[in-house]
Amino acid sequence: MSAIRDAVKSGAYLQPLRAADIMHRPARVRANGQFSDRGPIASVDIDGRLIGMQANPLGNFLPVAEPDLSGAEFRNLMDAFLSTWISSTGDYIREFERHFAAWNGMAEGVAVSNGTVSLHLALAALGIGPGDEVIVPDLTFAATINTVIHVGATPVIIDVDPTTWCMSAEGFEQAITSKTRAVIPVHVFGRPAPMSEIAAVARRHGVYIIEDCAEAHGAQYDGKKVGKYSDVASFSFFANKIMTTGEGGICLTNSPEFAERLRMLRDHGMRPDRRYWHEEAGFNFRMTNMQAAIGCAQLERIHTFLNDRSSVMALYEEAFAGILGVRLPPALPSKCEPVTWFACVTVPAEKRSALIGACKDKAIDIRPFFNGLSAMPAYRKYARPCPVSYELSKTGINLPTSNKVTPGVVSVIAAVFREVLAG
Ligand SMILES: Cc1ncc(COP(=O)(O)O)c(C=O)c1O
Repeated sequence: MSAIRDAVKSGAYLQPLRAADIMHRPARVRANGQFSDRGPIASVDIDGRLIGMQANPLGNFLPVAEPDLSGAEFRNLMDAFLSTWISSTGDYIREFERHFAAWNGMAEGVAVSNGTVSLHLALAALGIGPGDEVIVPDLTFAATINTVIHVGATPVIIDVDPTTWCMSAEGFEQAITSKTRAVIPVHVFGRPAPMSEIAAVARRHGVYIIEDCAEAHGAQYDGKKVGKYSDVASFSFFANKIMTTGEGGICLTNSPEFAERLRMLRDHGMRPDRRYWHEEAGFNFRMTNMQAAIGCAQLERIHTFLNDRSSVMALYEEAFAGILGVRLPPALPSKCEPVTWFACVTVPAEKRSALIGACKDKAIDIRPFFNGLSAMPAYRKYARPCPVSYELSKTGINLPTSNKVTPGVVSVIAAVFREVLAG
C-alpha cells in the first residue's frame, strides 16, 4: 500500500497501470441482470504515469452537463484516500478554502457539504430567523428559497428583469419592508445581477446581502467578481457546476466575525477552542477532505473551464443565428461580465416539449429552465405576479454545455431545432 501511496503522490508509475492492478472490477449490473464489462479505465501519459480514471456509463448519450475531471482530480483524490483523512479534517480542506477565497478576492472561505447548506449556513450565521423577511428572485433553483424557509424566515419572491434575468435593484427596493433582513440575488445561468446598485439599496436599508453564486463562478459586475458584494456569499460545486467537488459548497466572507460564526455553526455550534462545548445548536455541514481534494484540482483549471464553456456558447450562437423562433439571451449591460454555466436559448412555449423530445430521440439531453418559484405549490403562499420569470420558465432551454459539445454536435442540435421549429 505504501508503495502505491508514494507512487501516486509523486505521479511516478513506471508501467501503464490498469484499474485491475489496484482494485476489483466493480460489479455493475445492467437492467437485464448481466454484468457490464465497462469497469473504470486508467489513463496514463507517455511516461506511464497515471493521470486519471474514466468510466463511460452513458455510452453515446450526451448529458446536459458533464464534469471535466481530466486534471489532477484523481491523483488528489487518491492522495486524500490513501492518507486515510477522508472525513472533514485534512490538508485539502484548508487549501481549498484558502485558494477559492483568494481566487474570488475574499478573505475567508468556509467549505461545506453542498451549495444548499452554504445558503442555510449563511442565513444562520447572519442570525436570520422567524419574523424576518428575505427577498429572493422568482427565477432560481428551489434551494435559494428552501433555505429561507428552513431557518424559519419568510421569503419574499420578486420578479426578474427581462434583460439580465436576475433581480433588479428597483424590484428589490420596492419589496423592502420593516421586516426585511436579507436579500439573496442569484446570478442565474452565469448572468450577473446588478450588484453595485443592489448593494447601494441594501446599505441604505440596513439589509444583509447573500449572493447565490452557485451558477456564476468567476462572473463579474462593475469590475468586481460576484460574491464580493456580499456579507456572506454562497457557491455550489455540484457536478453540473462550472467547477465541482462532487457535492460541495462554500461560504465566502470578508468579515472575520462572520467567518468564525460560519465555522462554529458548520461544526455543531462547537467552540473551536473548547471541544464538546456548544454555545448554540449548530449543524454538521462539513465538506470532506476527498471533496476538497477534487476541488483543489478543479480550481487549478477553472480558467480553462470558463473558456471552454464560453466557446461552447459561441458555437451555439453561430449555429442558431437565423433559425426562426430561437432567441439567444439578451445582451447584458456593459457593467456585466457573465460566464456561461449552461448555454441557453428561448423558443416558442408551444414548441419546447417537441424540441426536448426530438433531441432525446437523438440521445441529446436538453432541459427546460427552472419553474418560477411562485408557480409551484410549495411556495404559493409567498407568490406574487412574476410575469417575466413566468415567460422565461415556459420558453427557456438549457443546452448541453461540456467538452463533449463539438461543432458537429452543435450542428446536429441546430438541425433538430430547425426541423421542429419549421413544423
Ligand atoms: C441557484 C442555485 N442555488 C443553490 C443551489 C444548490 O446547490 P447544491 O446543489 O450544491 O446544493 C443550486 C444548485 O443547483 C443553484 O443552481
